[in-house]
Amino acid sequence: MKLAVIGYPIHHSKSPFMHNTWLQECGLKGSYEAFEVSPDQLREQVVDFEKENFTGYNVTIPHKENIIQYLDEIDASAAELGAVNTVVIRNGKSYGYNTDGHGFLKSLLTKRTAQEVKSSDILIVGAGGAAKGIAGSLHSFGAEKISIANRTVTKADQLIESHGLTGDSMDLAAAQEQIGRFDIIINTTSQGMYPHIHQEALDASEMKAGSLAADIIYNPLKTQYLKKAEAAGADILNGVGMFVFQGALAFEKWTDREPDTASMINKITQDMN
Ligand code: ATR
Repeated sequence: MKLAVIGYPIHHSKSPFMHNTWLQECGLKGSYEAFEVSPDQLREQVVDFEKENFTGYNVTIPHKENIIQYLDEIDASAAELGAVNTVVIRNGKSYGYNTDGHGFLKSLLTKRTAQEVKSSDILIVGAGGAAKGIAGSLHSFGAEKISIANRTVTKADQLIESHGLTGDSMDLAAAQEQIGRFDIIINTTSQGMYPHIHQEALDASEMKAGSLAADIIYNPLKTQYLKKAEAAGADILNGVGMFVFQGALAFEKWTDREPDTASMINKITQDMN
């Protein structure tokens, strides 16, 4: 079985380690390789994967949107998002999916029960591609109250409207004022990601004790936002779980096997330390 990830650049990706470990653990023959593909090589690479009988591949920055035009079919939620992170090749045809939002939801469910997620007052910070996927997954899972805060508030308005969310749309200052109200806050912005480790979209020091602060960032493992949330008595969840679960969902599509996510979260966490 031939699997891959394409991106530009791609050398820092932990996906080859993760998927090759899972292939081995499942006793499957095959390999998962990283391919550095520039935007002008993308079309040709999609055709090459089909010709060379790859089972599938992951797609990362900067190709998640552009690849759609070269694929044969796109799953409904990936189409709505306008972004694909997983391709499955069947009978020489390429099918696009997006497992990021569902991956985040599965990670969240390691910290909160389904019922808690559904009844929580949730705030998503950011309104870009990652926020869209997460909002879509939480909403279809049945989360009743999802608010969006964004620097550019019109993008938060659009996201609330397009998904028919019942929560509020607000700018970051308004979110800061109401921060003690939320049960779950999810940072989807790049604020705080290495090397900008002293940045944060929200100051979490006034979060409600016992609430949950989640970040999609995993480098560093504990962003400034998560550190302040923890000091305020909140539970924290970093982006390692989302990364592992989005990968596991892709792996299941390719192989029909369920990989060990818990031990992979430990392995990647140790590797990052
Ligand atoms: P992704 O696909 O990772 O979600 P994106 O679509 O570029 O990336 O979205 C980035 C998000 O981070 C946006 O919500 C953006 O806010 P704007 O819509 O106002 O641009 C947010 N973001 C980026 N830089 C930021 C900053 N310095 N302060 C606050 N929010 C920021």
